[in-house]
Amino acid sequence: MSFLEVKNLKVHYPIRSGFFNKIVDYIYAVDGVSLTIEQGKTYGLVGESGSGKSTIGKAIIGLEKIKSGKIIYKGKEIDRKFRNRKNEYNKNVQMIFQDSLSSLNPKKRIIDIISEPLKNFENLTETENKKKILELLEIVGLSEDALYKYPHEFSGGQRQRIGIARAVATKPQLIIADEPVSALDLSVQAQVLNYMKDIQKQYNLSYLFISHDLGVVKHMCDYIYILNSGRFVETGTKTDIYDFSEHPYTKRLIAAIPEIHPEKRLENALKRKKIEEEYQKNKKNFYDENGKVFDLKKLTDTHFVALK
Ligand SMILES: Nc1ncnc2c1ncn2[C@@H]1O[C@H](COP(=O)(O)OP(=O)(O)OP(=O)(O)O)[C@@H](O)[C@H]1O
Ligand SMILES: [Mg+2]
Repeated sequence: MSFLEVKNLKVHYPIRSGFFNKIVDYIYAVDGVSLTIEQGKTYGLVGESGSGKSTIGKAIIGLEKIKSGKIIYKGKEIDRKFRNRKNEYNKNVQMIFQDSLSSLNPKKRIIDIISEPLKNFENLTETENKKKILELLEIVGLSEDALYKYPHEFSGGQRQRIGIARAVATKPQLIIADEPVSALDLSVQAQVLNYMKDIQKQYNLSYLFISHDLGVVKHMCDYIYILNSGRFVETGTKTDIYDFSEHPYTKRLIAAIPEIHPEKRLENALKRKKIEEEYQKNKKNFYDENGKVFDLKKLTDTHFVALK
């Protein structure tokens, strides 16, 4: 039995217009994705801006209304109206949000922000709570004087670490990490990623690691889901994706990984141009007549691709 299974998930946002604010159409932000998460593993969710990554994450924790599909937690289907319920699922599945500034309440102090998820599940006295928050701050490398400050008094990197402290407070088993390091300097990125790996080992955590950057994902993930227009175009292990990718959309993302060796930059740029041309020329092979990504087909036991 898998820790979490998402089956044929769809999230459609209504587009409203006119004086009566009538629904005139829908954005198919997530349009039929299935994924499986096992304990202790890291899964990459990769795609360009607007491909639906955050929507999938938020739907899993119950922050987005699901059009259809199932979320199965330890073999049991989760009720669609589970949001804000103080149940085991909400304790065990936490999220680090993409935008640390807008996801941390600006009027609350750090101690209250990090305590929030804890309060739903544990009855701690004020002293116990403070002790716990201090431990969490220490783990993410922030000092005691952070306790009574407000989010705007921190740098982007520090705020991201506050988001991580909040997400790990309830000792979850799965953390959905939405672009956890994309706002950070390279040196701080490494620090945060290493910390995430450390606590993973300690608690046998699973991650759903959301990123547009296949470079970072390579460093972190066991299995990778490539998302394009709300559907998966390719899924596979690190080797499947980085060494044997079949889908031009995946190849394009891989070619976009910045080249660190200056002598290879020109070669890389030419390769990128060729891949882009191939992608534009062959579009009919990977989108059906309605512009929708095909269903995934099995290549090997681990590798799936959505080609005609
Ligand atoms: N609340 C909303 N109402 C209407 N449309 C939305 C809403 N949230 C997201 N969308 C649309 O759904 C699609 C997917 O958005 P989503 O935020 O999931 O993308 P993303 O892959 O996380 O992008 P990014 O890399 O920029 O964070 C986009 O077209 C977006 O404009
Ligand atoms: Mg996003």
